[in-house]
Amino acid sequence: MPTLRFESEAGALLAEVEAMPGDLLLDVARLADVPLHWRCGQGTCGTCKVRLARLDGAAYPAEPGRKERNVLLRAGAIDNALAAGERWPPATRHWRLACHLAVGDENWRVECPSF
Ligand code: FES
Repeated sequence: MPTLRFESEAGALLAEVEAMPGDLLLDVARLADVPLHWRCGQGTCGTCKVRLARLDGAAYPAEPGRKERNVLLRAGAIDNALAAGERWPPATRHWRLACHLAVGDENWRVECPSF
């Protein structure tokens, strides 16, 4: 089972949990009492944006769908160039929507913005 390490923007540990592949990232955060803000739960408001990084620190590509890219653009998390690309180049961190992303097989560091 993948390990998810939730941290604040400052790097403080909020929770470290194991999840099942396929679990919705927002659901995992809520069950672990992570103070992650969210509103719509449907991938439209952008409130649940988080920065994902692999726990091993390796760069990885991301393939967010058009809707997620548009919401992240409106939320000010990404720029127009990134919003236009269906496949993001490898980076060590990517903005994603927690309510829109299923947990995979890898271990993640999930940075939760403060409000
Ligand atoms: S809660 Fe609105 S986009 Fe995730």
